[in-house]
Amino acid sequence: MNVLLLGSGGREHALAWKLAQSPSLTKLYAAPGNPGLAQEAELVGLDASDHATVARFCEQHDIALVVIGPEAPLVAGLADDLRTAGIAVFGPSQAAAQLEGSKGFTKDLCERAGIPTARYVRANTIEEARAALSKFDPPYVLKADGLAAGKGVVIADGIEQAEIALAEMFDGRFGDAGAQLVIEEFLEGEEASLFALTDGGAILSFGTAQDHKRVGEGDTGPNTGGMGAYSPAPVLTADLQRQVLDDIIRPTVETMRAEGMPYSGVLYAGLMLTDTGPKLIEYNCRFGDPECQVLMMRFEGDLAAIMLACARGELAGRDARFAGDTALTVVLAAKGYPGTPEKGGAIDLADAEASGSKVFHAGTSAQGGSLVASGGRVLNVTARGRSVGEAQRLAYEAVDRIDFPTGFCRRDIGWREVEREKTRD
Ligand code: AMP
Ligand code: GLY
Repeated sequence: MNVLLLGSGGREHALAWKLAQSPSLTKLYAAPGNPGLAQEAELVGLDASDHATVARFCEQHDIALVVIGPEAPLVAGLADDLRTAGIAVFGPSQAAAQLEGSKGFTKDLCERAGIPTARYVRANTIEEARAALSKFDPPYVLKADGLAAGKGVVIADGIEQAEIALAEMFDGRFGDAGAQLVIEEFLEGEEASLFALTDGGAILSFGTAQDHKRVGEGDTGPNTGGMGAYSPAPVLTADLQRQVLDDIIRPTVETMRAEGMPYSGVLYAGLMLTDTGPKLIEYNCRFGDPECQVLMMRFEGDLAAIMLACARGELAGRDARFAGDTALTVVLAAKGYPGTPEKGGAIDLADAEASGSKVFHAGTSAQGGSLVASGGRVLNVTARGRSVGEAQRLAYEAVDRIDFPTGFCRRDIGWREVEREKTRD
């Protein structure tokens, strides 16, 4: 089959790399892609916001499946328009993508379905938001309702900071995404993610991961899209995974279907492992970035075939096999990230990859035959090992073979698990 992949980040490079290995793939197209992805797919100049042109391209190129990488086109309803044109799509409808597109929608759904999550209040005005603060203890968790590129959450230690943040949010700090807020209880625990494929009925567990959202070592400093990740997440034991599937994922999929918004694609549950069990922090309607990179390193099946089965409602009876080892990825970002990243810095990747390691491109451009940084998160340096410690060592060895003077990375990706491994040894 011919497949069209939409997106341009490290997640999409990893998906392209795995799709290209699919026995059922004939030809892979990608738009807009990036220089790394160009080694796996033919890049085409398509604008994902122009749904009619994407549909026409699919008809002209005999595309059997469109894989939508990022959330924005899903929330904008691209999957709906392609399905209306008779094209199979991996990714949810606009209605189902509200699970990521509106935090308030998801909280209300959790309430209706009895899904464990933080206690919350929705606020449409600053007065409502101020009044809601009194219902919670510090630290205060304030969330812009809509999409804010992973930066729409403020955790304020005290009431003054919370009031200032509220004022900024209603003043347009996150644009329209902050026109409504969710204020919720602060949850204590360790975070982990579980991925599940679903066609609206059948559910297939699709791996676990942990990422590092803060820019600084020891998980300090501002939030980012993610500075590194590893998979699997040993904290999500088989028992806990079962609990998440039974108490969180299944009731979500069943409620969405019962309410006429069947969810199809990958459902990414961000979880807090609290003393009273796993609770949902948020849903995403796509793979995590950089979590996808570590999942793809370990996935052993035919990715195009399983995504097509998902798109066609034929997931029942399928299985997903992952290698038993660990994959770990380190994000090389451009200096300045997550603020204003320095663009145009030269990158030399010669000799970077060795056996068991892989460099995914996230924010790179080709300029006169050489490679330069063109985004905040630039490269995802990924390695596999028998333990998190070994994968970490191999990933940093690959990082050290890369020449990227205007880049930086955290040197402690995986630290929690590496420490636990040391105490076990
Ligand atoms: P989100 O965009 O909802 O994933 O939130 C971003 C980050 O904020 C999460 O990864 C958590 O680290 C933190 N966070 C969000 N909600 C809560 C909560 N209720 N309690 C504690 N931390 C939270
Ligand atoms: N790494 C976090 C995310 O993709 O949302």
